[in-house]
Amino acid sequence: MTKDTASNAMWGGRFADAPDAIMEAINASIGFDKRLARQDIEGSRAHAAMLAQQGILSSRDAEAIREGLLTVLSEIEAGDFAFSAALEDIHMNVEARLKALIGEAAGRLHTARSRNDQVATDFRLWVREQCDGAIAGLEALIRALLAQAEAGADWVMPGFTHLQTAQPVTWGHHMMAYVEMFGRDIGRFRDARARMNECPLGAAALAGTGFPIDRDATATALGFDRPAANSLDAVSDRDFALEYLAAASICAMHLSRFAEELVIWSSAQFRFVQLSDRFSTGSSIMPQKKNPDAAELIRAKIGRITGAMVALFTVMKGLPLAYSKDMQEDKEQVFDAADHLGLAVAAMEGMVRDMTANRDALEAAAASGFSTATDLADWLVREAGLPFRDAHHVTGALVKLAEESGRDLPELTLGEMQAVHGDIRADVFDVLGVHNSVASRQSYGGTAPDQVRAQVARWKEKLA
Ligand code: ARG
Repeated sequence: MTKDTASNAMWGGRFADAPDAIMEAINASIGFDKRLARQDIEGSRAHAAMLAQQGILSSRDAEAIREGLLTVLSEIEAGDFAFSAALEDIHMNVEARLKALIGEAAGRLHTARSRNDQVATDFRLWVREQCDGAIAGLEALIRALLAQAEAGADWVMPGFTHLQTAQPVTWGHHMMAYVEMFGRDIGRFRDARARMNECPLGAAALAGTGFPIDRDATATALGFDRPAANSLDAVSDRDFALEYLAAASICAMHLSRFAEELVIWSSAQFRFVQLSDRFSTGSSIMPQKKNPDAAELIRAKIGRITGAMVALFTVMKGLPLAYSKDMQEDKEQVFDAADHLGLAVAAMEGMVRDMTANRDALEAAAASGFSTATDLADWLVREAGLPFRDAHHVTGALVKLAEESGRDLPELTLGEMQAVHGDIRADVFDVLGVHNSVASRQSYGGTAPDQVRAQVARWKEKLA
């Protein structure tokens, strides 16, 4: 082999030997960064157009590069592209193919640019798209939750604290709690997107360039708000990926909590919901089983998504300015997290859309477990003028009485109640019913059906 073919054609000028096979294996990123092909070619096209506009590249070369890059993109999209590990990464794979297609002009594309600003640009474009995708997926999920909330704005169910029956709430209210969570997630993806929307291209290797480039032109062409203002920071910043992963982790945590509720609610012991066949699986041995596998897998996704965030933090900590090859380890984590977040959001949306709440089981559960004890205490405060602490005590005595006789609060007789506190009147029974209980909770953000409907309307307007 001659010196030229043994060493890397892109950077091998000063090298006599080709890399060891192990070196190639640890160094190459093409196995995963080929997912950045479209962004890489978009970035190169913007760069070439700017170079031509600035007179750094002839318009003939620029045109050849433009055409050639489009050909490369169509080859990659058609699956007709032979990626080479010897060419390390997507940037050099694209450039080498461009050279094969258009010849010498391809070598002029890398003027006033480095793979350091190139990869930072490509990856930002990719993560930016993921923010948009997450927002769209979450909006669809919110719409599914709104449909559930609207249908069941006045269905009663037990509200829990410590997973013990606490007070009756409405089904719609419970659904709307998740609407708030996923709404905040959308806000986080929006915020991250807005902050990451600065263009690193033109920072070159780390110091900027002596060529008279126009960074505003490339930033605008690629849909960025502005060029990144410090070249050292531009090539070494991965905050955008970390912010995306942080937003994804919080979102995955919300999904996991909801998934856990669906697992519990769909059990034979609860029977609060029925999941559709489309989002359940059977058991190969127990014919009666219908398992909430999608919910369980969604519950688990937080592990790899938060794992990705911790992995990237660990890569980035302690890295001196500017670029270090460590940063190549950013992509697989983000790719994996984004793939699984997308799946989890879509699966949750499908499950919510399809699931049927078991209204009777919800209502029966809502009425059990002394769920209206607080309503009774509130009645004693309002109607009998007791201080709340005393009312709490009287109610506790009544709960004890009911519990000892295996009954619920509305099953006590008026006489039994009056034996505990003489001021109790027959109209106390009005507040012991679960529908009256939820209807009374009219405070803003409370569980009353009217409040739930108002929140559904607000969200519908927000999404419109
Ligand atoms: N594959 C590299 C990465 O993902 C591209 C940048 C390489 N830059 C360099 N100076 N070797 O980070």
